[in-house]
Amino acid sequence: MVSKEEVLKYTEDLKFLTGLSSNDLEILKKYKDIALQWTDDLVKSFYDILFSYEPTASIFREGEREERENTLKDWYRRLFEEINSDFWIWQWYVGIVHIKRKVYNRYMLGMLSRIQQMFLDKAVQNLPIEEALELYRAFKKATDVIAGVIAEGYHLTYVESLQTVAGVDKQFVGKIMKLHLDKAMKEFHK
Ligand code: HEM
Repeated sequence: MVSKEEVLKYTEDLKFLTGLSSNDLEILKKYKDIALQWTDDLVKSFYDILFSYEPTASIFREGEREERENTLKDWYRRLFEEINSDFWIWQWYVGIVHIKRKVYNRYMLGMLSRIQQMFLDKAVQNLPIEEALELYRAFKKATDVIAGVIAEGYHLTYVESLQTVAGVDKQFVGKIMKLHLDKAMKEFHK
């Protein structure tokens, strides 16, 4: 099982590579009151998109929308509060919760992109341009780290389930992967 320490190590890599700093987290907190005024619009647009597209709409159960909107509102609010180790570990959990419902990475990452775009529009419409860009940069970096955590969670949970359920050893998975990669890469050159 991936440990909390490993999740935090992946987060550190992502923070360094995206450039997310403690100053960015302070910026998010500073704009909390204004950013929370955008919650209802962002969450409504998010689910309007998912429900207007059959492959994603079919994932939801009858009558589930309100519950889902509430969990997304809670997730969004917490971005402007204390972002600490517990928050990053929770993002890992949020990522793997989706695997069970067949919410693939392409759906998660596509919608994270939408949230970023909608957030940029709101920031530009409601703040002087310099402040809007400062806030957007902090938001973009934080949500990009989340995207990375979600992608790692998806990939490692798959590998892990192969190892534990099918009893396949880690080195063996690595060897199979290498053989498969050679084959897959050759296919692209045909
Ligand atoms: C930006 C991307 C997304 C974020 C931040 C997000 C956030 C969340 C959160 C916080 C939860 C509750 C997790 C918990 O139980 O504590 C959740 C659950 C859920 N989300 Fe998302 N979500 C995202 C994208 C999606 C997409 C694209 C879909 C469907 C196409 C989706 C469908 C669901 C479903 C079905 C659940 C319930 C899972 C279960 O407990 O059975 N989510 N999401």
